[in-house]
Amino acid sequence: MREHPSDRIDFRSDTVTQPTAAMRQAMVEAEVGDDVLGDDPTVTSLETRVASLFGKEAGLFLASGTMANAVALRTHTVPGDEIVCDRTAHIYRYEGGGYAALCGASIALVDGHKGLMTPEQVQSAIRKADGSGSHYPNGTLVCVENTSNLGGGACYDQMTLDGIASVAKAHGCATHIDGARIFNASEATGVSVADMCAAYDSVSICFSKGLGAPVGSVLVGSEAFIAQAHRWRKMFGGGWRQAGLLAAAAHHALDHHVERLAEDHARARTLANAVNAMPGFSVDLATVQTNMVYVTCERPAAEVAETLATHGVDVFDIAPTKIRIVVHLHITDEDVSRFLEIMRTAF
Ligand SMILES: Cc1ncc(COP(=O)(O)O)c(C=O)c1O
Repeated sequence: MREHPSDRIDFRSDTVTQPTAAMRQAMVEAEVGDDVLGDDPTVTSLETRVASLFGKEAGLFLASGTMANAVALRTHTVPGDEIVCDRTAHIYRYEGGGYAALCGASIALVDGHKGLMTPEQVQSAIRKADGSGSHYPNGTLVCVENTSNLGGGACYDQMTLDGIASVAKAHGCATHIDGARIFNASEATGVSVADMCAAYDSVSICFSKGLGAPVGSVLVGSEAFIAQAHRWRKMFGGGWRQAGLLAAAAHHALDHHVERLAEDHARARTLANAVNAMPGFSVDLATVQTNMVYVTCERPAAEVAETLATHGVDVFDIAPTKIRIVVHLHITDEDVSRFLEIMRTAF
């Protein structure tokens, strides 16, 4: 599906997708109200729909994945608390230190494999203030990211996910999933999002990544959790008015863009296999489980990205010798073939 006016192949992120004509039409036709006053029917129906899809009591529509995570972390913690997450987690690496600035919390980092932690690692990272003579911060929240962005789009197997939740619960910690790409994880593992998240207290879900909406995330959890999250969203300035225009895009994404994620995964796999076979480039194929391909380059990644750009292909040089390729709904089979041809001739 190529529905945006560019002949560049944009592999930088699945966030670059533009709303399709059908999605724009759904937005135009959306029934709206004032969501701060609680009467935008499209927002309300989206929150209810997503909560029920995830087997949770309630949902809250927010502007971004970062905001959904910030509100979740703030709702789960008080200043002096500590959050356990993987070293590469988005909440730690890319959310402006919100856990510190907005929550007053510290982070206990876990050295997971490809962004994925084990229950044992989580257990040894949890520190409790009680019994420490007031030396330790209070570990109260465990946050997992599924799929893991910096882990190359790898996803958790269900046993590990459930194991982490039960270790967290046993130590009196709440649990949150940064599910920016949780539908990709569900597609890859065949586990429904409700089963995947059953043991977790809250989940943030993005519509502006693989699902192709312009903006928007939903945070789900218990009634009491979402009521408190609603207050934090307000205090962070995130109460919004006729947001139904955006909620309509998310509804459309749920109707039309979930099952097609399998196509993105298949294209990513084709691309990864082919690039891995090229001299000077390698891909850890075991991590190519969803829509991302991290390519290790023998030459500087910045040089590879620059050369590709001159041929109309955009990628991120995410590390000195690594480029990141993300497949999404604007990437066609022809784009993959054209990219592979460029790789063969340009390097
Ligand atoms: C894993 C993960 N979580 C959260 C976010 C934040 O989303 P947003 O850019 O909408 O704030 C991203 C963004 O790419 C992400 O990859």
